[in-house]
Formats: sequence, structure tokens, C-alpha cells
Amino acid sequence: MAVLKGYSFTQIRLHWVIAVLIVGQLVFGEEMGEAWEAVEDGQVPEMGLMVWGHIIAGVAVLALAVWRLGLRFGRGAPPPPEVGSALAHMAAHVGHWALYALMVALPVSGLVAWYGGVEAAAEAHEIMKPVTIILVAVHVVAALWHQFYLKDGLLLRMKRPLD
Ligand code: HEM
Ligand code: HEM
Repeated sequence: MAVLKGYSFTQIRLHWVIAVLIVGQLVFGEEMGEAWEAVEDGQVPEMGLMVWGHIIAGVAVLALAVWRLGLRFGRGAPPPPEVGSALAHMAAHVGHWALYALMVALPVSGLVAWYGGVEAAAEAHEIMKPVTIILVAVHVVAALWHQFYLKDGLLLRMKRPLD
């Protein structure tokens, strides 16, 4: 496979749309949690805008993540920036794949919990919340570190296609 200089236009757009949706889910997930508590108490949950929004945005993340993974496997990604140790590159690689795994596991566990009534899936879904917050925070700090300390223009790779 040829060495790529950057991500494609579609890869970049998918990165940012998924990023916004996931952060939105983390910030506005509370009402979904309350609806689930109602289900657990044997009540009929109130299907308000925030609950439907959570479901629709979550399913959108799943569909877009599948598309994105298809491009990741089919087209690939640019090699790591030249600066940085092998350990840092390995950490970034593992972190990126963990984020991909969460993009799929979050909506799938939510769907299995909500439509399958599986308590264990709801627990897994809840545990993934702090894991996602920590990974995304580290990811953002790393991106800012590259931009402002290493000054290697890494953020540019997620801004416009370089090929
Ligand atoms: C405002 C927040 C974010 C910033 C500033 C940011 C920045 C970046 C940058 C600059 C890259 C390219 C790294 C490189 O070229 O080696 C990247 C890649 C990536 N980002 Fe983000 N990101 C953000 C949010 C997110 C979120 C919320 C997710 C998913 C939960 C995410 C998932 C990924 C993944 C999986 C890659 C690796 C792509 C690949 O090489 O396959 N990012 N991000
Ligand atoms: C990217 C996708 C998703 C993210 C980031 C996400 C995130 C969250 C968050 C932050 C909460 C609140 C947890 C709390 O109470 O503190 C939550 C709850 C919940 N979500 Fe999602 N969600 C996603 C997709 C989905 C989907 C597609 C469904 C399907 C119906 C779903 C079903 C649920 C359920 C049943 C709860 C309540 C149980 C629990 O707290 O784990 N989620 N979600």
C-alpha cells in the first residue's frame, strides 16, 4: 500500500462528526440514564426528545464508525509524525484503536441494554462512560501537545487532506 501523507476528506469529516456526536452523548446522556432507571423500576419511561436524541445519535455513531473503519482498513492512515519515540507512537496506536472499539461498543451495548433488556449490557455501557472521557481527554491533550509544544502541525492532518 502506498505511503499516505494524510487522511482523506471523508476520513476527516467522519472524525469530526463522530467526535461531536460522542461528546454530545457524554454531556447529554443523563436523561437516558433516568429513562433506564424507570425501566428498571418497572415503569414506562418517558420517551422525550433527549431520550430519542440519545438513541438516534448513538445509532448514527455506529453507522458512521462502520463507514470510517471501512475506510481505515481499505485506504489506511498516514504514518505517525516523524517526531516522538517508538513508545509514544505505540501509545497513540493503541489509543486510536481503543477509541475505534468504543465507537462500536458504546452504541452496541446501549442497543442491547435498551431493546434486549440486558442489565449487564447497561452496566458495561455505564462503565464505558468514564473510560471514554479519559481516553478522549488524553487524545485531545496529545493533539494539543503536538500542536503547541512539538509544533509538528499534526492537527493539520485532521483539518485538510494532504495527499
Ligand atoms: C476536540 C477533540 C479532538 C481533537 C483535537 C482530535 C484530534 C485528532 C488528530 C489531530 C488526529 C490525527 C492524528 C494523526 O494524524 O496521527 C486524530 C486522530 C484520531 N481521532 Fe481524534 N480528535 C478529537 C476528538 C476525537 C474523538 C471524540 C474521537 C473518538 C471518540 C477521536 C478519535 C480519533 C481516532 C480513532 C483517530 C485515529 C485515526 C486513525 O489514524 O485511524 N478523536 N484526532
Ligand atoms: C456513541 C454512542 C453512545 C454514547 C457515547 C452513550 C453514552 C451514554 C451516557 C454518557 C449515558 C449516561 C450514563 C449515566 O447515567 O451516567 C448513557 C446511558 C444510556 N444509554 Fe447511551 N450512549 C451511546 C449510545 C447509546 C445507544 C445507541 C443506546 C440505545 C438505545 C443507548 C442506551 C443507553 C441506555 C439504556 C442508558 C442507561 C443505562 C446506563 O446508564 O448505562 N446509548 N449513554
